[in-house]
Amino acid sequence: MKQNILSHIPAEHPWKDLLVFCDRIPSTNDLAKKLAKEGAAEGTVVIAAEQTAGRGRMGRSFHAPAGLGLYFSVILRPERPAEELLHLTCAAAEAACDAVEECSANRPRIKWINDLVMGNKKLGGILTELSVNSKTGLVDWAVIGIGINCCHRLEDFPHELQDIATSLLLSTGKAIQAEHLAGCLIQAFYRLNKTLLTEKDTIMNRYRLDCMTVGREIVLIRGEEKRYGTALQVEDDGGLRVLFDDGTTQTVQSGEVSVRGLYGYI
Ligand code: BTN
Repeated sequence: MKQNILSHIPAEHPWKDLLVFCDRIPSTNDLAKKLAKEGAAEGTVVIAAEQTAGRGRMGRSFHAPAGLGLYFSVILRPERPAEELLHLTCAAAEAACDAVEECSANRPRIKWINDLVMGNKKLGGILTELSVNSKTGLVDWAVIGIGINCCHRLEDFPHELQDIATSLLLSTGKAIQAEHLAGCLIQAFYRLNKTLLTEKDTIMNRYRLDCMTVGREIVLIRGEEKRYGTALQVEDDGGLRVLFDDGTTQTVQSGEVSVRGLYGYI
């Protein structure tokens, strides 16, 4: 699989020698974080054919069976205060959309903040984790994990995900190989990393075009509490401005936002 991934990247690509491939590990994010702490270079990418303990946002698990999806984590070292990187997950979502579009000719939509969506179902997700150096106050490393379902048929998903999840095969009819997508994603992240701090406005404007949450009825779920409202806009820092049904307006930075009409929320 490693050679196959490398065959989709130009021979002279600066990140080409930084690929770590594993057949089966608990989580590519966990291995990438370990490597980052040990000093691995920016651009180090960890890819696994299978994850046994793939993780998502909000402590959720991410289903990552052998050979069916792309399970990918990249190490970046932006060396800026964390407050300047609030757009990082949005930027990563744009890189993921670019890569999927490049190899499938279909562009996913984004459900705020980190879900890739095709045909109203979840195609994949993004998990961003970072560490700040306590002495300098700057980000030491950021690990961005991306999981994308490639070749799943309906029966490859556990029963409880079958109404919610999709794959590139199911949503486009095309058998896109995870290796091809991996090659596109490495190149998309390399390009993104060059403009991450200098072209924030462009990145966020592109995110706004791809984000399908704005203008939709949503419910914000925090523990037992559910607040209904309408998503108004995505702010420059990635926050979601919401007009709640009680008339108040608030920018949401975290928490689960369900979008009416998506993933079974009627
Ligand atoms: C989510 O849906 O909330 C995010 C899912 C992120 C899954 C990817 S798969 C590669 C990387 N390793 C992990 O353990 N998680 C991310």
